[in-house]
Amino acid sequence: MLSWVEKYRPKSLKDVVGNDKVKEKLKTWIESYLKGEKPKPILLVGPPGCGKTTLAYALANDYGFEVIELNASDKRNSSAIKKVVGHAATSSSVFGKKFLIVLDEVDGISGKEDAGGVSELIKVIKKAKNPIILTANDAYATSIRSLLPYVDIVQLNPVPTTAVYKVLKKIAEKEGLDVDDKTLKMIAQHSAGDLRSAINDLEALALSGDLSYESVQKLPDRRREANIFDALRIILKTTHYGIATTALMNVDETPDVVIEWIAENVPKEYEKPEEVARAFEYLSKADRYLGRVMRRQNYGFWKYATTLMTAGVALSKDEKYRKWTPYSYPKIFRLLTKTKAEREILGKILKKIGEKTHTSSKRARFDLQMLKILAKENPEVAADLVDYFEIKEDELKVLVGDKLASEILKILKEKKKLEKKKKKEKEKLEKEEKKKEKAKEEQPQLITQPKKVEKEIKVEVEKKEEVKEKVVEKPEVKDVKEKNEQKETKKEKKKEKKKKEDKGKQLTLDAFFK
Ligand SMILES: Nc1ncnc2c1ncn2[C@@H]1O[C@H](COP(=O)(O)OP(=O)(O)OP(=O)(O)O)[C@@H](O)[C@H]1O
Ligand SMILES: [Mg+2]
Repeated sequence: MLSWVEKYRPKSLKDVVGNDKVKEKLKTWIESYLKGEKPKPILLVGPPGCGKTTLAYALANDYGFEVIELNASDKRNSSAIKKVVGHAATSSSVFGKKFLIVLDEVDGISGKEDAGGVSELIKVIKKAKNPIILTANDAYATSIRSLLPYVDIVQLNPVPTTAVYKVLKKIAEKEGLDVDDKTLKMIAQHSAGDLRSAINDLEALALSGDLSYESVQKLPDRRREANIFDALRIILKTTHYGIATTALMNVDETPDVVIEWIAENVPKEYEKPEEVARAFEYLSKADRYLGRVMRRQNYGFWKYATTLMTAGVALSKDEKYRKWTPYSYPKIFRLLTKTKAEREILGKILKKIGEKTHTSSKRARFDLQMLKILAKENPEVAADLVDYFEIKEDELKVLVGDKLASEILKILKEKKKLEKKKKKEKEKLEKEEKKKEKAKEEQPQLITQPKKVEKEIKVEVEKKEEVKEKVVEKPEVKDVKEKNEQKETKKEKKKEKKKKEDKGKQLTLDAFFK
């Protein structure tokens, strides 16, 4: 049983969806062959499953060509190429048969296993009388770089999601599937322009009997890691907003990395200064949003940054440049790799300063500058700070250079030596002091005894006085004294009374005797 991918492979160009301009280009190309002209072979370049192989076969079918194919699974060394395509390419049509030679995935021709394959291919191309179509995912793979001057590169884009959806809808109807539009659209979105994977997903789900929206959501995301060079080529070649904005769809790099790639290669592709200026205007705006992502930790800003750096840059040019541009790796990354170790060390120092001073690394960066200035102006103080922040030798070297670092370290060493010496001296003095005290303590008791006795006596006297005072102050004693006094006054009063009485008695007696 044929898989749905094969079953629904378009036989004619009119059934191939998307990439309309490419279809037109292929038609004029093959027609010029039919007119006896000899245009260069075509290299169809595009992401997986967008219809490269399909296009080649559909073209052959529409124009009555027989396909001679050497595909990726065959060996493609020099002798295989000579044997399989060499003859067909160079021979004139036999019995009115026309041949179209299709060499699939030439970027996969390996230097080792397929030794000599590419150079043999170039030989075949030079002598070819029949049309040749080559396909590749990556036109800039180093393995086929030597081939590029001999071919006409034709770029294909991922199949638009709406086109993928339409193909799926047609297949679903023909297969009588009970599936709703929402689910089909979800499969299309997941495919990221890879029609082969979209059809395979639909078939797999139909076989499983579960075509629900939920099961589609669980599908693995087909967005594969695409070569950044592919994305660059799309951005820098296209003048189409929609195509440019989807260029990064398959790129597994964050926008802050991608922007460096674009910035590096804009001047290589764009030739007019005003186009370069416009492109950089957009890149600087994109960069501002990337800065906001970092500062506010709001990744929502990424979408503005990526739109500006893709569509903004793409639309900065007046028209597409029809040339092959070798794009390159951003110099800034090379520089960053070179300075990576240094930056790591500085980071360590900043952390130490931050911890000691309880400040942010931003503020610590300021202190670091102060330390740099101090190192020149006042190495003595700098040495103290180096000691305080516990900055190591390699770190200091990165910070102030080898010469200053060794000067500061020398000062620090001297200081440490001096400190050690002082510490030792202090310890020695303390020891001696202790020794003296100990010696004093250990001398005969006699000398100290009198003092002790005196003390004791003094204490005794004090105690006695205290007791005296206490006795006087005793409340009972006070009472007794009062009572005694009271008694005495009473006695006296009695006496006086008696005296008075006696006197009275005397008076009355006197009166009597008068
Ligand atoms: N543009 C398209 N229109 C209709 N069907 C397509 C299209 N592209 C792909 N398909 C479907 O997907 C299947 C695979 O496509 P094809 O083999 O042409 O992809 P490709 O670009 O050659 O991929 P690869 O890079 O993996 O070789 C086809 O059999 C067909 O069913
Ligand atoms: Mg293919």
